[in-house]
Amino acid sequence: MSTGIRPADASGTFTIGGDLTVNRLGYGTMQLTGPGVWGDPRDPDEAVRVLRRTVELGVTFIDTADAYGPFTADLLLRKALHPYPDDLVIATKAGFARTGPGGWVPIGRPEYLRQQVELSLRHLGLERIDLLQLHRIDPKVPVEDQVGELAALRQEGKIRHIGLSEVTVDEVEEARRTAPIVSVQNLFNLAKRDAEPLLDHAEANGLAFIPWFPLATGELTKPGGPLAGIAEEHGATPSQLALAWLLKRSPAMLPIPGTSTVSHLEENVAAAAIELGDDEFAALTRAVG
Ligand SMILES: NC(=O)c1ccc[n+]([C@@H]2O[C@H](COP(=O)([O-])OP(=O)(O)OC[C@H]3O[C@@H](n4cnc5c(N)ncnc54)[C@H](OP(=O)(O)O)[C@@H]3O)[C@@H](O)[C@H]2O)c1
Repeated sequence: MSTGIRPADASGTFTIGGDLTVNRLGYGTMQLTGPGVWGDPRDPDEAVRVLRRTVELGVTFIDTADAYGPFTADLLLRKALHPYPDDLVIATKAGFARTGPGGWVPIGRPEYLRQQVELSLRHLGLERIDLLQLHRIDPKVPVEDQVGELAALRQEGKIRHIGLSEVTVDEVEEARRTAPIVSVQNLFNLAKRDAEPLLDHAEANGLAFIPWFPLATGELTKPGGPLAGIAEEHGATPSQLALAWLLKRSPAMLPIPGTSTVSHLEENVAAAAIELGDDEFAALTRAVG
């Protein structure tokens, strides 16, 4: 039952591409599939409950991809939330072929990207995708052809904004010569901070930075894990500290923790209300990494 209280509002907002304002603490759908990000989840009813609860909790930014299932996560999203709330921004991706459980092959050929965008529109039940992220740059295809096709789809009104995933600063700059880029999504969490130069570049240029694996796929949340002691002192859980640290690290940060359960979702979204002091932030930065 909805109480009208929206904990995700406490994470503050970011405006993507100058016109899409979202609460910074979002949700990622990758855990709503079977093992190896393949096929249906073990408990499809719980997956629907998770998605419905995200919007009740005030999550207005959901990250998904055609490749999750493939198509499983998008069909669940449509089942759970269509017609979508006006303030919900769904970011999806294209650019991976799925060859089986755990199999991911980048394909950036323009006709494949176009096919996947068309399929995403159909599966999600949308006329336009708010944010389409190129899941990977395919090294076999010129960047301008890949981003150029997304720019053409944008011209046609099928995509509102274009983002990139797993890129370097140089690749962002190269892509920006073909089309405006509004977001980047790279592996980043308290324990894995290689993407820091990209984060700084994103912040300086007004791009959203969407860290994937914000909980290090559960590694940071384990009892006895690197955050357990500090979390206990703080009266929070390790996952909440990992998310609060991300939110404090940069105003451009849009974490998208994934989970297959309503209880973990509620725990994660409650992190929006945790304000780390500068000393606590520095201590966490030193303790893990
Ligand atoms: N661009 C890319 O290439 C890329 C790659 C990977 C992921 N992503 C995106 O990033 C999102 C987040 O990544 P992710 O889902 O792989 O990893 P994650 O959010 O770092 O961690 C998810 C894992 O943590 C567990 N978990 C979540 N909340 C928890 C809690 N409160 N306490 C204990 N365990 C908890 C989940 O298990 P339970 O289900 O049991 O909660 C799951 O095993 C994905 O959903 C996807 O949208 C993008």
